[in-house]
Amino acid sequence: MKSIKFAFGISLFAFAAATGSAHADKMTLYCSAQEDWCQLMARSFEEATGIDVNMTRKSSGETFAQIRAESANPKGDVWWGGTGDPHLQAAEEGLTQEYVSPMRDQLHDWAISQAESAGNRTIGIYSGALGYGYNTDLASANNLPEPSCWKDLLKPEYKGHVQMANPNSSGTAYTTLASMVQIFGEDEGFEFMKGLHANINQYTKSGSAPIKAAGRGENTIGIVFMHDAVKQAVSGFPIKVVAPCEGTGYEIGSMSIIDGARNLDEAKKFYDWALSPEAQNLALEVNAFQVPSNKNSETSPSAPDMSQIKLIDYDFAKYGSSDERKRLLQKWDEEVSTLPQ
Ligand code: G6P
Repeated sequence: MKSIKFAFGISLFAFAAATGSAHADKMTLYCSAQEDWCQLMARSFEEATGIDVNMTRKSSGETFAQIRAESANPKGDVWWGGTGDPHLQAAEEGLTQEYVSPMRDQLHDWAISQAESAGNRTIGIYSGALGYGYNTDLASANNLPEPSCWKDLLKPEYKGHVQMANPNSSGTAYTTLASMVQIFGEDEGFEFMKGLHANINQYTKSGSAPIKAAGRGENTIGIVFMHDAVKQAVSGFPIKVVAPCEGTGYEIGSMSIIDGARNLDEAKKFYDWALSPEAQNLALEVNAFQVPSNKNSETSPSAPDMSQIKLIDYDFAKYGSSDERKRLLQKWDEEVSTLPQ
């Protein structure tokens, strides 16, 4: 009897090993939203499901590059958060895989359109408008005028007072570049980026770093998503949030399952959970003031009111396409970043 049980145990083990179901419940999450939100999402999913999450936070463009570099031997399962453009590019390049979640009919149209334009290889999880914020104490200490438009940032008085991220690594900064091209047209948009370059004190890796530096008093103006500036203001820092007068672009923060994910079942569980109001409401605990994609999730009263902001009709299909994103980044590298400051 004993030996039969033993033999049965061995064969079950062999079956499980052969089918790949013997692994412990775990998954690898690549996260491109704010670090504190990424941590909270990972820990809360672990608590809700018992699935261990190995999470790394990197900016949107960096994560895209990592997923592409790993494509022959994928290490990540889900890419959650970060601007939609590189998620769309990943979809186009087949780096992410199709999935239609049962949660989908609870989402706003803009989140579903994001999925439809990518053959269901990505989906919208939040949205937020681009803008900038500035440290009012530093601005008055330096006798700087109060900026309210994009073009104000070109004034010579602001030299050394403006910070933004590098559009290669950061989705926020790529959204900035693509928005300027859409607002002013390509030639004038690039002239704007060149003029801005003269006033930039540093291009950071991560999109929200410039406004965190402004909060700490190490920088005056940070070009970021408005919700990232609001986060600093509600944390008690002297930050004023600006919705630029010419109008502005916005992001559809997205989520994708990586092609060849080793932990596909866990990835799908995370994906469905991340679209639920329960998971999306966690944003409020870390002052993440994006607009959530589930219609039943809560939006904080502190969140920028998208209906009051002059938003452009951002062309996600164009600016999230592989050719256009590559072309604009290369042009920025060659014509803007190399200019003397
Ligand atoms: C911040 C914002 C997010 C945005 C992300 C992009 O975390 O809160 O809304 O998606 O930046 O990050 P990145 O570093 O790629 O600009």
